[in-house]
Parts: sequence; structure tokens; C-alpha cells
Amino acid sequence: MTLRRINAHDAHAFGQWFEVLRRSEHDRNGGVEDGWLPDEIRARSLDATASTYLQLFAFEVDGAIVAVAWLEVTRDDNLTSAYATLEVDPAHRRRGHGTRALEALERTAVAQGRRTLVVATKETKHEWGRSASRFFAPRHGYLVSEENVERDLEWPRPPGALDELNARWLPYAHDYEILSWRGAIDDAFVEDRAHLSSVMPVEAPHGSRPVEAEHWDAQRVRTHEHTVDAMGRDLLVSVARHRASSRLVGFSELTVSRERPGLAYQWDTLVLRTHRGHRLGGLMKVANLGQLERFNYATTRVVTFNETSNFAMINVNEQLGATTGGGYVLWVKYFK
Ligand SMILES: CC(C)(COP(=O)(O)OP(=O)(O)OC[C@H]1O[C@@H](n2cnc3c(N)ncnc32)[C@H](O)[C@@H]1OP(=O)(O)O)[C@@H](O)C(=O)NCCC(=O)NCCS
Repeated sequence: MTLRRINAHDAHAFGQWFEVLRRSEHDRNGGVEDGWLPDEIRARSLDATASTYLQLFAFEVDGAIVAVAWLEVTRDDNLTSAYATLEVDPAHRRRGHGTRALEALERTAVAQGRRTLVVATKETKHEWGRSASRFFAPRHGYLVSEENVERDLEWPRPPGALDELNARWLPYAHDYEILSWRGAIDDAFVEDRAHLSSVMPVEAPHGSRPVEAEHWDAQRVRTHEHTVDAMGRDLLVSVARHRASSRLVGFSELTVSRERPGLAYQWDTLVLRTHRGHRLGGLMKVANLGQLERFNYATTRVVTFNETSNFAMINVNEQLGATTGGGYVLWVKYFK
């Protein structure tokens, strides 16, 4: 087996690489086309100087790609760890390719000084808790580091449902105001927004592995916004502002693909620890769903993932009316 680094600027090579990823996701999703879109991967793989960057790899046997992977590497923080995915072409499974590809990926990560490798595996509802990775990963020395449960919110909600939740939660939040917009954040808030993303990894539940705060500044926020746009996605943002200090103390991001708006994805939501207990998480989510309605997206489902011990966020999603749909697992292995 040979490992080949894929240059995302090379449309032909990227296309071949993406086709294997698409086949694997298609297989997992039971033939439904709701996996990654090419631009969503490409936009994160083009700039090797970015704060986080995907390195794409193809694993070839006799000139044919049998497996694909990426390593997500960071430039300014968390320098001894990397996130990865590995997908073996469904037609080539159970022949040892996954094992050899994983070993090659591990060597590549370690050669870059990454001593902790976290491999993410998505599981659909029908294979939840019993996907191939549940057998494959432990055989290769990986432990479950984090279990996330997918929650799906059918969209639109019944008339009045969001207003009712808003009215129920607002009395807890007198000291705060919720602001929402689509796209780039106002310059006045960008430093606060950077701080929220910096502490997100340490303030949100993150399973058993050690994590560090991330290095975010205004420029990284702008790069993030630009990358989301280049991914072909609209970014809907809601924040909570503490009236007394005028500082942002929470944010929530919802993204919708312009090409495939049917599935909207809830991304990060955070309320700083010292400002919890005021229903701000729920209020920001309701505000963002209000944007989804206002901009009239053809969304039919909003997907979110919650770490299994994140009771506060799970409670919000359950009250919104979400149902469980599957999950994703983060597998971790430590190298000397
Ligand atoms: C998991 C995956 C990478 C395995 O790839 P593969 O090429 O089939 O793996 P290998 O042939 O190297 O399998 C090695 C061992 O893992 C275990 N294994 C792999 N797939 C399995 C399955 N579906 N059921 C039970 N055991 C399995 C077996 O012990 C196997 O050895 P054996 O075939 O001698 O019994 C592949 O199924 C895949 O791409 N799945 C979707 C994405 C994913 O889960 N990625 C891995 C994240 S850790």
C-alpha cells in the first residue's frame, strides 16, 4: 500500500479522493446523499498556513485508491494532538487495508510531533454503537474518548412552539440581551467572540482526553467566517451580551449549506461558566432558529451532536423537541 498526499488545489486528484469518501458515506447513510460536499472539505484543505488545516491522504493498492483519510492539524495550539478520519472504500473492506492505512496515518501524525491521535467516526441510527469502528478501533489500541449523540429537530417547528419556549426562558435572563445576525460579526464584538472560541474546548464537556484552550484572535474569527462561506455554508450566529459589562458571554452557531439546505447543522454553543443558569443556551438556539425561519431556508431537519454528559445542552435540545438519531465517537490513542 502506498500513501499519497492529496493536493486540494489539484481538481482531478481531489475529485478521485472525494469520490471514495462519498462512497463510504453513501454506504453508511443507506444510500442517502447527505454526507460532506466537496467544497466543505476543499475549503479547509487549501491553506496550509491556516490555524487549523486538513491534510488529505489517499491509500493506494495497484494504483487504485482503497481508503482515504484526513489529519486535522493546528498551527498555534494543541500542537501535540491531531484529529483524523479514515474511510475505507466499502468494496475493499475486511482485507487489511484499514489496518495498514491507520498505521500509515499514525506514522504521519507522529512524524509531525502529534502524540495524541483522535479518530472521529460517525454512526447512523441503524449502526449506532455497533459500527465497524467499534471492533476495528479497539483492535488497534484506541479507547473511546468521547461519545456524542445526534439529535434531530424536525423543521419547521409547530406554530408557536419556539415563542412558547422563549417566553418560558426569558425571565431567567433579565441581565442579558440576545443578538443575532447572518455572516460576519460586527467589529465591536470580534475580540469577545475570539475569547469564547478560545475557551470552548476547555469549558465544554470533552470526554476523557486532555485538551488545551485554543489560540483565537480577531483574525482567526475572520478566517473562520471566510472558510464557512467558502464551504458553501451560511453562518447564522446568536450571542448573549451581559448588559452590565456589555461583554459577550455566550455564542451559538447554526450553519446551512446553500447547495443542500435541507439539513442545517448546529455547530458550537457556549455559555461561559460564570454566566450559566440563565437559560442563555436555549435562548440563543431559539434566536438562531428564528433566523432560519426569517431567511426562509428550505430546511427540513436541524442536526446537533451532544456529548453524553452535557446534560444542560441535552435538556435544551429535548425541550426544543429533538429526537435521537445516531452519533459520533471520538477514539483516542496516545503515542510515546
Ligand atoms: C472501520 C474500517 C476503517 C475498517 O476497515 P477495513 O479495511 O475493513 O479493516 P481491516 O480489514 O484492516 O480490519 C481489521 C480488523 O478490524 C475488525 N473489523 C473491521 N471491520 C469489522 C466489522 N465490520 N465487523 C467486525 N470486525 C471488524 C476485524 O477484527 C478485522 O480483522 P479480520 O478481518 O481479520 O476479522 C472501515 O469499515 C470503514 O471505513 N468504516 C467507516 C469509517 C470508520 O469507521 N472509520 C474508522 C474509524 S476508527
